[in-house]
Amino acid sequence: MTELTGDLGWGILATGKIAHTFAHDLALVPGARLAAVGSRRLASAEAFAAEHGGTAYGSYEELVADPGVDVVYVATPHALHLDNARLAFEAGKHVLCEKPVTLDAADAEEMVRLARHHDRFLMEAMWTACHPTIRALRERLRSGVLGRPRHLHAELGFRVEAPPEDRMLDPALGASALLDMGVYPLTFAHLMLGPALEVHATGDLSRDGIDVDISMTGRYADGALATMTASITSWSSRRAEIATDLGRVELDDFHHPARATFTPVVPAEGGRAAEPGEPVEISGTEPVIGRGYGHEIVEVGRCLRAGLRESPLVPHEQTLAILRLMDDVRRQVGVTFATGAPPAEARPV
Ligand SMILES: NC(=O)c1ccc[n+]([C@@H]2O[C@H](COP(=O)([O-])OP(=O)(O)OC[C@H]3O[C@@H](n4cnc5c(N)ncnc54)[C@H](OP(=O)(O)O)[C@@H]3O)[C@@H](O)[C@H]2O)c1
Repeated sequence: MTELTGDLGWGILATGKIAHTFAHDLALVPGARLAAVGSRRLASAEAFAAEHGGTAYGSYEELVADPGVDVVYVATPHALHLDNARLAFEAGKHVLCEKPVTLDAADAEEMVRLARHHDRFLMEAMWTACHPTIRALRERLRSGVLGRPRHLHAELGFRVEAPPEDRMLDPALGASALLDMGVYPLTFAHLMLGPALEVHATGDLSRDGIDVDISMTGRYADGALATMTASITSWSSRRAEIATDLGRVELDDFHHPARATFTPVVPAEGGRAAEPGEPVEISGTEPVIGRGYGHEIVEVGRCLRAGLRESPLVPHEQTLAILRLMDDVRRQVGVTFATGAPPAEARPV
């Protein structure tokens, strides 16, 4: 494996909302350099480059051909990720791909296959898994000091008000509360409890057949259970809680939490009732970079400098496991893609 030395040249593929946020955090990461940006429209790439730097290209093809680009950040709607990643791999570039990497597990397997075939690095841009608070909490929970996790609850949703052609509402671009929001509670539960053994789901669909509200229950190792919701019609608390046999962990904005709080419960003794103890704050040892996206950028750089082709923080198998769960959830709630593609399990192998 060739190791990368010097600054890592980033190419940003697309100029939408998350591309801007990502470029903001990229500027804060030492050893990372915005080399270029590519858009379907040159004017859009030029405006982006004027704000964030880098060479502007009026096509994705030109972006991936730039020799100064080592790694491409794919920031298009989910339905386009596989084609965009393929373009980057074929040009010899590494890829950080926005979540969810694809619409279903079959396409994600194809993306992983392409990365291996071209011997390139691939990571889902699951910033939550790279976040210092989440990493610190996961470590504590796994060490057993917080007790045995029994119930996890996580909810993510906000009301989407956008024109019908917006990616959040257009079925052809992968609009789905599950794919956009549900991927976070499912990933959070996976990180804290390990892979799900089973998931049960119910959902409400729009007239276009988009899942707009989803409720899921999952069963994990050692009998731990999770309840998770995703919505594009309502304002959820964006909170998560983990109840253990020693107390309770609580997080605000659980997909990028500033801190987690563990409140131990002082056991009943001598006729006294059990009562909450002193809350303990859990946060990472490193400060949060920018809006929280800097850590996935650091992780890509760390992996590439070490010659890795996947990240231990967001391994391919984790991305695939979550997509398989989402395939299962979609099947249970009756969502099929607007593109007419049948659910993965119904496709010929
Ligand atoms: N990690 C996070 O916190 C986070 C947050 C938001 C979104 N995301 C993910 O990032 C991806 C993009 O989301 P976004 O909110 O940035 O979307 P967006 O604002 O709609 O931007 C998407 C961009 O993709 C490009 N594009 C190419 N073909 C397109 C088409 N047919 N229709 C629309 N856009 C097209 C466009 O850029 P050009 O015109 O420049 O080519 C467009 O600006 C999604 O997969 C989403 O799940 C992640």
